[in-house]
Amino acid sequence: MSTHFVFLATCLLGAVLPTSLHAASPQQPIAYNHNLHVSELEIPCTECHIGAESADHATLPPKEICATCHEDGPIGESDEEAKLIEFIEGPDPIEWIRLTRVSEHVHFSHRRHVKAGQLLCERCHGQMAEHEVPITRPAISFRREIGMQRCIACHKESGNARATVDCVLCHR
Ligand code: HEC
Ligand code: HEC
Ligand code: HEC
Ligand code: HEC
Ligand code: HEC
Repeated sequence: MSTHFVFLATCLLGAVLPTSLHAASPQQPIAYNHNLHVSELEIPCTECHIGAESADHATLPPKEICATCHEDGPIGESDEEAKLIEFIEGPDPIEWIRLTRVSEHVHFSHRRHVKAGQLLCERCHGQMAEHEVPITRPAISFRREIGMQRCIACHKESGNARATVDCVLCHR
């Protein structure tokens, strides 16, 4: 009961607060280009998101993965690539800001959905391969009540016996 009240109160607040009070759009450390690397260079998603088929978390790429192609100096003349090379030559990791997430109390495994469930990335992330600049909000959000309904809607229509809608499947 109280959870529902808090949920409702948050929605109402969200509706009346001026947008200036919401957090500013996150700025990634480098304006990475999915379209160039995925659509043109045809690098598979899992070269960079290494856990997406094999673990719970897909992960965001450490600079060592970028370095396999970018460590011998600039390939082009872009300022963004110059930033990348500074990271590769310096001591600091690239701290990508993660946007797509669910709360700690929800269990979600990429491996189970991508491997066992045979689902394509775009079912849950939209057309990432088309983006030329980083997204500033998840293409499809799985947060809150509406996010939960998105999980449940697919479980219902999937016809897969392991994709149940029992609360304890996702909330442990
Ligand atoms: C398999 C090789 C490969 C990997 C891995 C790779 N890149 Fe690239 N990247 C390229 C090539 C080739 C170009 C140049 C394309 C051109 O200019 O036509 C490029 C261009 C770029 C550019 C400049 C072009 C633009 O759109 O601004 C940036 C920035 C960049 N890469 C960032 C990254 C980052 C960050 C990573 C790691 C997350 C990464 N790259 C991983 C091959 C790679
Ligand atoms: C060469 C490396 C590379 C490849 C290949 C790549 N990505 Fe990414 N991806 C990144 C980097 C770097 C970021 C963080 C910066 C950004 O959002 O652009 C990212 C961000 C994302 C995000 C947002 C994560 C979040 O925090 O919400 C999603 C979703 C994603 N990628 C999906 C994909 C999919 C699907 C593919 C294949 C179609 C793919 N990526 C291919 C490097 C890559
Ligand atoms: C069934 C839906 C679904 C599919 C299919 C899916 N994802 Fe995700 N993805 C999610 C959810 C939900 C999250 C947030 C998970 C969390 O917070 O633990 C997420 C998070 C991510 C992130 C953020 C970083 C991280 O470690 O969580 C990346 C990157 C990502 N996914 C990439 C991919 C790629 C690449 C594929 C395809 C190989 C893929 N996803 C397939 C639902 C999905
Ligand atoms: C596009 C369809 C789709 C979406 C969206 C989806 N699922 Fe699933 N889910 C499946 C399928 C199919 C399976 C069965 C996979 C298998 O065969 O093991 C599954 C299985 C599961 C399982 C049982 C396997 C395990 O890892 O223990 C959990 C838990 C689960 N999903 C949680 C979630 C959560 C949480 C979300 C939303 C954040 C979500 N799912 C969104 C299709 C989906
Ligand atoms: C297929 C996975 C799945 C199933 C089944 C599921 N939930 Fe959820 N639930 C989620 C996700 C995802 C969220 C959103 C978490 C977030 O905001 O990050 C959520 C959020 C919630 C919240 C918090 C709502 C909010 O706005 O913060 C409650 C309460 C909840 N679930 C109760 C239930 C109950 C009760 C059941 C059984 C009738 C159930 N859930 C079944 C995935 C699931």
